[in-house]
Amino acid sequence: MTHKESPLHKESALNKKDTSWSGRFNEPVAELVKKYTASVGFDQRLAVFDIQGSIAHSQMLGAQKIISLDDVKAIEAGLAEILQEIEAGQFEWLLDLEDVHLNIEKRLTDKIGDAGKRLHTGRSRNDQVATDVRLWLRATTDQVSAGLTKLQLSLLDLAETHFDTVMPGFTHLQVAQPVTFGHHLMAYVEMLKRDVARFVDCRKRINRLPLGAAALAGTSYPIDREMVAKTLGFDGVCENSLDAVSDRDFAIEFTFAASLVMTHLSRLSEELILWSSPRFAFIDIADRFCTGSSIMPQKKNPDVPELVRGKTGRVYGHLTALLTLMKGQPLAYNKDNQEDKEPLFDTADTLLVTLEIYADMMRGITVNKENMRQAASEGFATATDLADYLAKKGMPFRDAHEVVALAVRYAVDKNVELSDLPLATLQQFVPEISDDVYAVLTLEGSLNSRNHIGGTAPAQVQAAIARVRTAMK
Ligand code: ARG
Repeated sequence: MTHKESPLHKESALNKKDTSWSGRFNEPVAELVKKYTASVGFDQRLAVFDIQGSIAHSQMLGAQKIISLDDVKAIEAGLAEILQEIEAGQFEWLLDLEDVHLNIEKRLTDKIGDAGKRLHTGRSRNDQVATDVRLWLRATTDQVSAGLTKLQLSLLDLAETHFDTVMPGFTHLQVAQPVTFGHHLMAYVEMLKRDVARFVDCRKRINRLPLGAAALAGTSYPIDREMVAKTLGFDGVCENSLDAVSDRDFAIEFTFAASLVMTHLSRLSEELILWSSPRFAFIDIADRFCTGSSIMPQKKNPDVPELVRGKTGRVYGHLTALLTLMKGQPLAYNKDNQEDKEPLFDTADTLLVTLEIYADMMRGITVNKENMRQAASEGFATATDLADYLAKKGMPFRDAHEVVALAVRYAVDKNVELSDLPLATLQQFVPEISDDVYAVLTLEGSLNSRNHIGGTAPAQVQAAIARVRTAMK
């Protein structure tokens, strides 16, 4: 019997089927089910990584003599052509072929014949898709880190310009104590520093190779997983095959880290919205980030910060979706996992564009220093400084707090600020008060006195900026 005549190569057995797994089925899959189960509509964006993974896998199969080196050459050349077709937009994605993996494999087989059919030796779509997603997410994480850095630099520049610009600091959204605008911005730089660290850490767990796990149990071929890991730039292999094909922790972690970035940006957005409203009038957001109203001609709406605030909810939704997707899934791979992609992709897309636009927007912020200063000098922002002044003169702080509260009440009744009260009046509250109290009641005096690491004194803001810049080098 010649090779061609073997029962395994009969027309009926192999050439009539339209998918790679339909041999055991008696009827075709229903059209609606095909649409329902197909992922090619969204997982085709993994194509580049699918091809990278396939090339690395085939090279390993060749090196281990599981397939011939001629087959490896044919596979590499075929996949290179397919990559070109995809990049040129000429690749025809077929729903019938379910997902990115089967589409590419079928095209490869059409091009190079049996060598293409050997590519899937010792591999399953289960470890293949996990590998593709990890490769994609690793590249995406690097883009996110670059985006975070760009935004930090933008905030640092603005903080530097305003290292001594006075503004009211708030608690309960009520004027609390004077701070510098630079100090306020540096609070966000700190948040972003932690965000960067979270992505760096998450990347370590992304960067492990699932291939070799095959469907779930490993494979009987003499594979070399370390070789594939090295070729693909992974730090190592996933150490349990069942876990390798079913773990999506790394995707959840990424989405959590993204959610926290969005949390931070939603807070800044809320402040930008408040500060740019005419009631505050602390800042102006460049027109290119705002829109007008179709009915109220006077309006300039801070659409970008509002959308960032809104899109934060969208990303949280993706995090909830992914956590819920994994909850209660038995080992190992389940088709549920196909649902990981759209939330993950949309998280990354939303985050990346948000970071990009935010970095630009912060460069388009102009500050109304007079209004900020005016707001800081209203509302008794230096009352704590007066209490501290009295405590330093020997009065127990609790008593000082009480007596200043009385002075504030008096000033409220007279509709003046503490610094407007004449010395004689202040001395009615505490006889020990002397002339030097006015230095303490000024905004600059208050700011400069908070001169320790983490404090709002302009000198400390400059030092904080310098520390971050050095650490970023
Ligand atoms: N499209 C699938 C996914 O995204 C690929 C893995 C399919 N594996 C399977 N046994 N059906 O998860």
